[in-house]
Amino acid sequence: MEKSIIVLATLIALASCTPEKPKFEEGEKKKSSAVEEVVDPTKGIGQVKHVTLYNPLDQERIQRGKDIYEMKCQACHRLDDQRVVGPGWKGVTKIRKPEWIMNMITNVDVMLEQDEEAQKLLELCLTRMPNQNVSIGDARDILEFMRQNDGEK
Ligand code: HEC
Repeated sequence: MEKSIIVLATLIALASCTPEKPKFEEGEKKKSSAVEEVVDPTKGIGQVKHVTLYNPLDQERIQRGKDIYEMKCQACHRLDDQRVVGPGWKGVTKIRKPEWIMNMITNVDVMLEQDEEAQKLLELCLTRMPNQNVSIGDARDILEFMRQNDGEK
């Protein structure tokens, strides 16, 4: 009786250690089909492919975005439409896709080299926006703050 319990326990342990190969292969397949995704130039270049926006706005995100703005962005960006070093932020969420804005914030070097709209801004401002190692999550918070600045509720 005892022996058969030990055998059973061993079998269960072995079964749970079996690697789940099929799942892994499925993941690989999904990856390769994603490569065929159509590239939308108005979304900019970078990791951010799709952003879902919600209303009402997320007040916690807005507060975090505002804090980051004051620390890392305010020196060059005003909240009205006046250009200082970089363009004022008023209206930016109306003329740019959220993905473009977040890629500009998180992948600025590549954007300035390859994205036409970013290059037009560089020609206008004559200063390169520095890469400030902003995470995707922080960029999303800043975007929420920009949406509030543009009068969204
Ligand atoms: C040293 C100045 C400087 C700092 C600091 C800076 N930027 Fe910029 N930013 C610029 C300039 C200049 C441009 C225009 C593109 C260029 O010339 O590089 C720009 C462009 C942008 C744009 C595009 C604006 C538009 O009208 O389409 C966004 C969005 C942006 N910056 C976000 C940020 C965020 C977010 C921060 C803070 C984390 C930040 N920037 C910090 C200088 C700066």
